[in-house]
Amino acid sequence: MPRVFAAIAALLVAGTCSALAADIHPTRQAELLYLLKQDCGACHGMRLKGGLGPALTAERLAPYDVDFLALTIIQGRPGTPMPPWSPFMTKNEARWLAQQLQQGIHP
Ligand code: HEC
Repeated sequence: MPRVFAAIAALLVAGTCSALAADIHPTRQAELLYLLKQDCGACHGMRLKGGLGPALTAERLAPYDVDFLALTIIQGRPGTPMPPWSPFMTKNEARWLAQQLQQGIHP
């Protein structure tokens, strides 16, 4: 019996992951990563190690809530050079980007 439960658990986990990944088409994911490199890199550094804006490395972003980071990307930070990216991506896409950053991305 426990093996059955393990199999179900594995299915559930796999199902959740693929559902999340399926939310954003791979083509769009590539576009977002290109944007990250070109546009975000302009301020956060080509390797996201910091520049005008702070470093966006996994170590630095670890303490933050992913939704807080997604909100920062979508709305920007008024009063700072961080612009709102809502014209260029959806909230879901910003959340995905925030997740990638927290997992560690080295463009
Ligand atoms: C014009 C310069 C500029 C661009 C372009 C820019 N940022 Fe920023 N960003 C900043 C600055 C400056 C801050 C720090 C704001 C503050 O003082 O709270 C910041 C903060 C952030 C933060 C919060 C980090 C923290 O430690 O609080 C995230 C996440 C972030 N930016 C992601 C992005 C992403 C993703 C992009 C591209 C889609 C991007 N930024 C493009 C200037 C920029």
